[in-house]
Amino acid sequence: MKKTIRDYQYEGKKVIIRCDLNVPIKNGEITDDTRIKESLESINYLTNHKAKVIVLSHLGKIKTEEDKHDNTLYPAYKRLKEYLHTNIYFSKATRGKELEDLVNKLQNGEVLLIENTRYEDYPDKLESNCDEELSKYWASLGEIFINDAYGTTHRAHASNVGIAKLLPNGIGFLVEREITKIDQILEENTHPYTLVMGGKKVSDKTLVIDNLIQKCDYLLLGGGMCFTFLKAKGLEVGSSIVDNENIEYCQNLLANYSNKIILPLDIVTKEKKIVDADQMSSDDIGYDIGPKTIELFSKILKESKRVIINGPMGVFEEKPFDNGTKSIYQVLKDSHIKTLIGGGDSAASVNLLGFSNDFYHISTGGGATLEYLSGVPLKAIEVIENK
Ligand code: 3PG
Repeated sequence: MKKTIRDYQYEGKKVIIRCDLNVPIKNGEITDDTRIKESLESINYLTNHKAKVIVLSHLGKIKTEEDKHDNTLYPAYKRLKEYLHTNIYFSKATRGKELEDLVNKLQNGEVLLIENTRYEDYPDKLESNCDEELSKYWASLGEIFINDAYGTTHRAHASNVGIAKLLPNGIGFLVEREITKIDQILEENTHPYTLVMGGKKVSDKTLVIDNLIQKCDYLLLGGGMCFTFLKAKGLEVGSSIVDNENIEYCQNLLANYSNKIILPLDIVTKEKKIVDADQMSSDDIGYDIGPKTIELFSKILKESKRVIINGPMGVFEEKPFDNGTKSIYQVLKDSHIKTLIGGGDSAASVNLLGFSNDFYHISTGGGATLEYLSGVPLKAIEVIENK
């Protein structure tokens, strides 16, 4: 068992908390603040316990000087200011006197958000390469380190793994909740156990499939990735998205698990035509699963005792190609099926299609949840002290 945020006394202590405030921002406006809201519980716990709270987070990727302008955490600061009931300050500097002065001025129960940790990735990738000096510098600002950045737990960066090696540490409430919920659904012995996978590339999902295929009863395939499987069966898929490097992988999987893998019976094309999956023409481009597939998938899902969803069934951002994804969510909701939504696109589709409060767990992690479902230990959790 890992140490948690509950395991320390905070009054008067400088506490560094790593959050994942990597939220989508368009023209300076946050378009989905789920990750900010999910970070509040731990930040509030620390302020309520009279800590001086120093928040670190990354945002996007910084490869050029211009990237800094597009990836400032200032919008996240403004949003946090609306949500927190205490003083919150923003440091434009990621190191140096300006930052240190702000840290030293912090009163018990106040919060300081430091600018995007990945500003330290340009010109040298100090944050992403877990630079020792940078880790030491950031650690020197605080006395205790809490990691609540679940979405970043698959990375070994200075702001999560580097600092954790240098300070007494623990996981925050969000990380604890994510891991507990995911472990529970993976480990409970209830059947039928169904995986629903979609999204574009097979290559992103092979490790998850390899880890879970023997344990599950069904693997329902939709989204862009189903066309690689259909092609692997020798079917025409037109100009649909295909991951040619994984055709052989799909063939082997189909040969070994033909009883578990369920492919679409019909497809909605970009021209909004419904065609049987074995009748696609060379001009067709698949954009969603069709009505017969929805019916078949729904029947299996209704009987399932637990379901893990990873990847949408179609181009959910565009009507009417959201129908497959939406119908699947509706069935799971109406039938009260224990459902874990994992992966960045799936979480975005759940929010966009209005199912944010309807499932057992909607993970805030994209890459992190994929790695966890693949059975890979999460580096930033591994480094946290055991109780
Ligand atoms: C995410 O959005 O998956 C996390 O914030 C990690 O971001 P990264 O893939 O840029 O490291």
